Amino acid sequence: MSSLQPVSSSFTHCQLVYVSESQDAQVENLQALIAAHQLPIILNSELFTEKLSQKRRQQLSQTATQSILLLDEKNKLSWLSDGLSVAPEWDKLQRRVVSAGRKSELLLQAAKITSGSTVIDATAGFGHDSLILASTGAQVIMLEQQPLMALLLLAEQLRMNALPNWQKLMSRLQIINTDALSYFAMLQAEAIDDPKAIDVVYLDPMFPEDSYQDSKTGKGAKVGKHMQALHQLVCPPTPEEEMQLLQSAQAVVSQSAQTSGRVIVKRPQFAPQLAHQSASESWHNEAVRFDGYFV
Ligand SMILES: C[S@@+](CC[C@H](N)C(=O)[O-])C[C@H]1O[C@@H](n2cnc3c(N)ncnc32)[C@H](O)[C@@H]1O
Repeated sequence: MSSLQPVSSSFTHCQLVYVSESQDAQVENLQALIAAHQLPIILNSELFTEKLSQKRRQQLSQTATQSILLLDEKNKLSWLSDGLSVAPEWDKLQRRVVSAGRKSELLLQAAKITSGSTVIDATAGFGHDSLILASTGAQVIMLEQQPLMALLLLAEQLRMNALPNWQKLMSRLQIINTDALSYFAMLQAEAIDDPKAIDVVYLDPMFPEDSYQDSKTGKGAKVGKHMQALHQLVCPPTPEEEMQLLQSAQAVVSQSAQTSGRVIVKRPQFAPQLAHQSASESWHNEAVRFDGYFV
């Protein structure tokens, strides 16, 4: 992994608000995560003993000159975006993770993975889809380009790892702060001497905020608070970037010489296919569609 370039050479300044002196150790743990994963983040921590009402959170995020992270009384790290706390919510997925299978999860119908598979979730975001993928027993390499999002993921993994029922699942997740394209390029360069077996590459890039619903019928999903927040941080890819992402993902799967490799792309049900490339097969419900590109 040493040949990976950092996503950006510039550092992001974040304000970390914590609510009790007893959280000093947790603040140190976060700083240690940043150092261990070489995240380009400078975290300025500040103790807030006043009550952080919704109104106060709103004020905080409106007046802030940098991103605000909040470590609440339960030691859960979230990002204050427009006064709303957004964070990976892995514990809320417990029921889905426990009962996940191809019948109940469209993503698993599309990905067709087993406990021996290795998957790259190249656009990890809040990691919710990664968890569903890992529920099969598969190893999941999670790539996230935004340092702040990567920190939220790492902090959630650390928090969940303290819960015995989650430890096995957590051990199957590898979180890397990198741009997917540079990671794919590195895999391809290393493949000459040491090819990695990648069964599936999963892509869920941002799409324009107005493409979640059908413009004529209004059918489709509303944008949730997690995606609304992400739209402040990340732009949807350009058509050229879409094409690059799809082609490099296909190249990674095909070089790993798996017989049933595939790239799976998540889209809103009514959105066009990624880079306007026809999929081999699609699976959809009222909100989302998974397009499969078999390699
Ligand atoms: C729509 S969200 C993914 C949501 C995710 N599937 C989930 O379950 O939470 C897209 C995420 O992919 C990240 N991303 C987009 N392009 C990327 C790239 N080229 N490399 C790495 N991460 C990328 C964005 O920063 C954003 O966090």
